[in-house]
Amino acid sequence: MQDQPILVIGSTGKTGSRIVKSLNEKGFSVREGSRSAAIPFDWDQPETWAPALSGVSAAYVSYFPDLAFPGAADKIKALSEVAAQCGVRKLVLLSGRGEAHAVACEEIVRNSGLAFTLVRAAWFAQNFSEGYLLPPVLDGMVALPAGDIKEPIVDVDDIADVAVAALTDARHDGELYEITGPRLLSFAEAAAEISAAAGIPVHYQPITLEQFHEGMLEIGGPLIADVFTEICRETLDGHNAYLTDGVQRALGREPRDFADFCQTVAASGVWRKAA
Ligand SMILES: NC(=O)c1ccc[n+]([C@@H]2O[C@H](COP(=O)([O-])OP(=O)(O)OC[C@H]3O[C@@H](n4cnc5c(N)ncnc54)[C@H](OP(=O)(O)O)[C@@H]3O)[C@@H](O)[C@H]2O)c1
Repeated sequence: MQDQPILVIGSTGKTGSRIVKSLNEKGFSVREGSRSAAIPFDWDQPETWAPALSGVSAAYVSYFPDLAFPGAADKIKALSEVAAQCGVRKLVLLSGRGEAHAVACEEIVRNSGLAFTLVRAAWFAQNFSEGYLLPPVLDGMVALPAGDIKEPIVDVDDIADVAVAALTDARHDGELYEITGPRLLSFAEAAAEISAAAGIPVHYQPITLEQFHEGMLEIGGPLIADVFTEICRETLDGHNAYLTDGVQRALGREPRDFADFCQTVAASGVWRKAA
């Protein structure tokens, strides 16, 4: 077992929190990477990067809010350089599924001179339980500009398991794993499965990109609205409606099904409406 800690950037987030828990359970030394960590890490304050990266063997890199935001590639490049200067052996990058901005960041990590694993992820199941779609689920109506396309919705537990393997086992060096769930689901089907498991009414409402943009403007302002609308335009057009074998290749097992995710979350009480 190595003595040097592993840095988990985004350690309080959906993927990062699971990676921290799993590494701790396996006995690895972990350094949490978030703005509230003991050694704070802030993407907007580059002076925090070297203290967070010093003395670590490897780093998990999940970018916030998304690799499609302006300046993301420059920050991934600068972070890779600081990591190299700090003697970090390996980076594990969480990426999208081939979007131009995400691929540009993958190429930066691939050419950083460090060992790397690239983890491409499909649309997260946990968007419905821990992300921005939890309030709409509780209100009974999930509205997305996704028409009737199908997505191989992935359980974040699987992404975390792949990242932990990549961070702790050099046999994953140089690999690109594209991680999907085992089944294609339309958002109407996903809503129906959540509804059945949670015992609450949940419906899916297809909306236009313009309607999505209008809603995001209210929540996050113009930049958030513009970038997330572009992400939806690029990703929710049906071209990702295929399964991949990333979980099988990395872990030698099948990915978790959306039905298991629904059962687990329903049992946790997260989808129970406050009285
Ligand atoms: N959702 C999806 O369906 C999907 C699919 C594929 C890929 N992805 C990618 O997943 C990534 C997000 O990962 P996630 O969902 O695991 O994270 P998340 O749940 O969105 O959590 C965000 C994390 O980033 C940290 N954070 C926020 N602002 C920060 C800042 N200025 N500096 C440093 N850390 C900051 C937060 O920590 P503190 O607030 O404590 O600082 C938290 O740990 C994005 O790059 C996204 O593109 C998402």
